[in-house]
Amino acid sequence: MAPERPTILVTEKLGEPGIELLSQHGDVEKAYGLTPEELCERIATADALIIRSATQVTKEVFEASKGRLKVVGRAGVGVDNVDLASATEHGCLVVNAPTANTVAAAEHGIALICALSRNVAQADASVKAGKWERSKYVGVSIVGKTLCVMGFGKVGSEVARRGTGLGFASVIAYDPYASAVKAQALGVKLVSWEEALAQGDFFSLHMPMTPQTKGIFNDDTFSKMKKGARIINVARGGVIDEAALVRALDAGIVAQAALDVFQKEPPAADNPLVGREDVVCTPHLGASTAEAQEGVSVEIAEAVVSALKGELAATA
Ligand code: MLT
Repeated sequence: MAPERPTILVTEKLGEPGIELLSQHGDVEKAYGLTPEELCERIATADALIIRSATQVTKEVFEASKGRLKVVGRAGVGVDNVDLASATEHGCLVVNAPTANTVAAAEHGIALICALSRNVAQADASVKAGKWERSKYVGVSIVGKTLCVMGFGKVGSEVARRGTGLGFASVIAYDPYASAVKAQALGVKLVSWEEALAQGDFFSLHMPMTPQTKGIFNDDTFSKMKKGARIINVARGGVIDEAALVRALDAGIVAQAALDVFQKEPPAADNPLVGREDVVCTPHLGASTAEAQEGVSVEIAEAVVSALKGELAATA
């Protein structure tokens, strides 16, 4: 069990309602932008750690905690930035906030679908550069196209639900674990991997980052898509082999991409995807609405407090 007033280290910005809740149960220390070495130093006196996507909780962090760290709270869904095997080895729980940012991520996916189809970001940059390029930025209509949701979990199914209202001719989804009943209820057809690639016009990616999905959008995958496909990624950068995406864009297989996430965040200055006009980038904003951040802060604070009180037993 943690001490009566546990120390809760928060290394990335967390909404105030969550901070307030945590403060009722422990001493909250906010320390943003720590280097890996600084994190290892600070962790030695922490009973709980709260992170978002930028903090890497490595084997070294768990070793440096010398068994004091009881819980890592990920203020979001994906726990791919936490070394789960080391957490287990050191008897540390890992909890996440699985629901509060679902709608925000789905809305960002839809925003990027619309932005891509009508060149919103590129045209905005052009007008601000003093140009008036109406013929250059002719878009494509969503009506008559197929939206293919890759990963039909919480976020993917919300994108699919919204996609049906946008006028897509059909919304299909690939997810080997998805419930057919849920898909049917949303008017979504579950298809095989090969069918998804062959039929989709807009691909919205919502897969978790796992050893199985790492680089799953690679040369082979792109070669099976219809020429002129559009890809939107608000999941994890690592599911796309970025060099393969550059080749697919160069070959015209992929007409455009909208990327909220990257293999390495922030992307390197010389990442070839960032400078392209056929790629729209946002800085991992999927979960970033005021409402979602408030909800996530409370959801993760409640989970961390429960873990500190010894009420939880399983990892995320
Ligand atoms: C998530 O996994 O839920 C997101 O990456 C959250 C975030 O932006 O931190």
